[in-house]
Amino acid sequence: MNNSDGSKNYSLVYRKELRKIESRIAKLFLKRKPGSLYEPCSYVISSGGKRLRPFLVLISAKAVNGSFSKVYNAALAVELLHNFTLVHDDIMDNSDKRRGRLTAHKKYDVNTAILAGDNLIALAYEMLLKDCDDNSKNVVSTFTRAVIEVCEGQSLDKDFELRKSVGIKEYKEMIYKKTAALAEMCCSIGAQLGGGNNTEIKALENFGKNLGMAFQIQDDLLDITADEKKLGKPVGGDLLEGKKTYLFLRALEKSKGNDKKLLQAVIKNKGIKKEEIKIYKDLYERLNILTDAKKEIIHYTDSAIKELNKLPNEEGKALLNWLANSLIDRNK
Ligand code: IPE
Ligand code: IPE
Ligand code: MG
Ligand code: MG
Ligand code: MG
Repeated sequence: MNNSDGSKNYSLVYRKELRKIESRIAKLFLKRKPGSLYEPCSYVISSGGKRLRPFLVLISAKAVNGSFSKVYNAALAVELLHNFTLVHDDIMDNSDKRRGRLTAHKKYDVNTAILAGDNLIALAYEMLLKDCDDNSKNVVSTFTRAVIEVCEGQSLDKDFELRKSVGIKEYKEMIYKKTAALAEMCCSIGAQLGGGNNTEIKALENFGKNLGMAFQIQDDLLDITADEKKLGKPVGGDLLEGKKTYLFLRALEKSKGNDKKLLQAVIKNKGIKKEEIKIYKDLYERLNILTDAKKEIIHYTDSAIKELNKLPNEEGKALLNWLANSLIDRNK
């Protein structure tokens, strides 16, 4: 899988691994009953997605000279966990679409979606334990810590919707918990199961954490800049729900006069109407908020990449470097 100049084509490696992940995912719930539970679980997890988190587990293992084969179940476990967070997130965020399809609670109903989410998290543990032996207590504990962080982060995300003022520092603590902690955990368990030493595990955790921060700010940015068809989620959803995103908080910080009043109206009215999205997009553009967000994304991506020189495996490092850089240009 080399380019004509002899360099590796990392996107081909990613696509090849993606195919393997997809085929394992397709087999996950065969023969499981009752259908009333597994049909929705399967609907959720088989709907595509970038599979970023399992890929992080795989390459983190490689980056410490471990092999993919030892962490395949752990890779599936983090995707199961991620899908649990998405199902419950969509209920909490009143989102109708994800990955280009109806969200689970819209396709079925809220009760079905809650239970499918609960089951996905239990299945995630079941899968993780397959790659663990009697010495893997730390892996399970790292995984569990991340589940707790996500719940705490999601709770803060909802709390912030109702708050009049939230600082960028608080926002960053919230996205660390709801998103970056999971990416950090993926890299950590990949490194632990791959046999990395403490310095290598720490470096990969820092990589995942910074990548996760960049990832969530980019997610906030895409909410306003993306093409809805490509994104697969409703564009402007954060404004409709009155979310305290990076864009919103930065705009509030920079704005004056009428612009500030427009932003304060979002807080007062707990969100905006669909017809108003364009007004806020224009406001963000006028205040250069989209550029500010890009700068933050690049800052966190650079911090992630700096950690890579502490790792021993050249191909693993190159893959992580490629991944971090390509996420900057993602459109979904
Ligand atoms: C969405 O995650 C939730 C966030 C933490 C922003 P992804 O953007 O990775 O979603 P999929 O799995 O690719 O659909
Ligand atoms: C999601 O944040 C974080 C999770 C823990 C799932 P968002 O609510 O911004 O994710 P999307 O945009 O709906 O995917
Ligand atoms: Mg949310
Ligand atoms: Mg959401
Ligand atoms: Mg979002």
